[in-house]
Amino acid sequence: MANLLATKSLDILMKEAEEEGEHTLRRALGPMNLIMLGIGAIIGAGIFSLTGTAAASFAGPGIVLSFVLAGTACVFAGLCYAEFASLIPIAGSAYTYGYATLGEMVAWIIGWDLVLEYAFGAATVASSWSATVVSLLQDMGIHIPPQLTATPGTVLVYFNDRWETLASSKGAILAAGVDPASLPHAIGLFNIVAFLAIVAVTTILVIGIKESAAFNTAIVFVKVATILIFIGIAAMWVLKNPEAASKNWTPFIPPNTGEFGHYGWSGIVRAAGVIFFAYIGFDAVSTAAQEAKNPKRDMPIGILGSLVICTVLYIAVSGLLTGVVHYTDLNTAAPVAVGIDRTGVAWGRWLVKLGAIAGLSTVMLVMLLGQSRVFYSMSRDGLLWKWAGAVHPKFKTPYKSSIVVGVFVAFFASLIPVNILGELVSIGTLLAFVIVCAGVWMLRNRRPDLQRPFKTPLVPLVPILGILTSLGLMAGLPLDTWLRLIVWLAIGMVIYFTYGAKHSKVQQALEGK
Ligand code: ALA
Repeated sequence: MANLLATKSLDILMKEAEEEGEHTLRRALGPMNLIMLGIGAIIGAGIFSLTGTAAASFAGPGIVLSFVLAGTACVFAGLCYAEFASLIPIAGSAYTYGYATLGEMVAWIIGWDLVLEYAFGAATVASSWSATVVSLLQDMGIHIPPQLTATPGTVLVYFNDRWETLASSKGAILAAGVDPASLPHAIGLFNIVAFLAIVAVTTILVIGIKESAAFNTAIVFVKVATILIFIGIAAMWVLKNPEAASKNWTPFIPPNTGEFGHYGWSGIVRAAGVIFFAYIGFDAVSTAAQEAKNPKRDMPIGILGSLVICTVLYIAVSGLLTGVVHYTDLNTAAPVAVGIDRTGVAWGRWLVKLGAIAGLSTVMLVMLLGQSRVFYSMSRDGLLWKWAGAVHPKFKTPYKSSIVVGVFVAFFASLIPVNILGELVSIGTLLAFVIVCAGVWMLRNRRPDLQRPFKTPLVPLVPILGILTSLGLMAGLPLDTWLRLIVWLAIGMVIYFTYGAKHSKVQQALEGK
């Protein structure tokens, strides 16, 4: 019987972190690349899309406080990730930290759970990427057959010279006094645009870490420039129209309607749960630990640097957006584009769409990078099949795991509706945060002697706050999402007991094989 609590020795882990050679990954990333990887993963569908609905339906202008709240929860977890990533710079991230502290079964659970964050995260973002590309093409008069732009069963209607999903355009159709049933309809079959996006990103990842990082850095400049241009234009508008802006900002926290989460303070908390998605990704930096030139110093810089930069940008964007547009008008999938439209800058809409397309592509890239690195680590430990740990002799990337992950994610993205994917991503990420925070605290007690290049401040307070805020955000997610999480983990357990526990190198060492 496998020893489910067996931990992987820290000495072995540290030795593995220093290995170099034919079967290991290439150390090519400096501190700037790592911050860029973080920003590449973080800024995406969350800020470009979810901000609007969260402000309109839950928080009003108080969405700024939701961003502060979710950002604070992430900083607690980020500090814990930074300690672990500099202490155990292994590609497995939370999975490896769990293996070193809480035992093999928890490590497996967390490795399997990270699939929800990284693989499902990439699929979710691929859907948003596809929606933005299709919308931009329609702006230019190019129409892809609608059946090939949506997941199976999605109803699309033709209205105002463009195909839109019925769910997103119903409000506008009814407001125009049109009966949706009278419009031409199509039913989604397969989202080929999302499929091809994942195929393209996977190809870059297979070719090399340096190439992937260079692509990421170039695109991150484009997306940060887009955000900064929005901030500049919106700030000028607010300065020129202070009365209109202050009217939009008042009341800053609209009174609660009597229903939990519908404005008021509970609305701010509910909105924080929704826009938490916007912060996901800083932890993916830790999966590049074995490809960093100096991980002990640079991992904390990459994780915390990217998180802080994005938090500041998010607070500025959400504050200005609700000043330019009244929150009740923000219930749209493209709120930043609506905001820039209101300022009267005609080219703004194009800029924001192009910036979002660029931005979303690096989120997919870094998420898929993270997923293949976690599988690589699990395979090296014997918990997953050997092929998942194979490194390409020339490209030095875990190419088999990248390709298999890419194929699955391409199908998820083209077949599973985005709302189901998105909430699973949040719950999976939050569970990883809880375990990482608990691990830091536990290891401080168990091995106070270890030389920690970066120390989380105020332990155990920060880990405890990290655990509580993450659990709080998890509690706000719907019951369905919890049930899907449980089913997902149960599938993982079956794989662990039928394969992982039998092939685990740690178990074999314990049994003296
Ligand atoms: N934080 C990433 C996004 O918002 C996942 O797209």
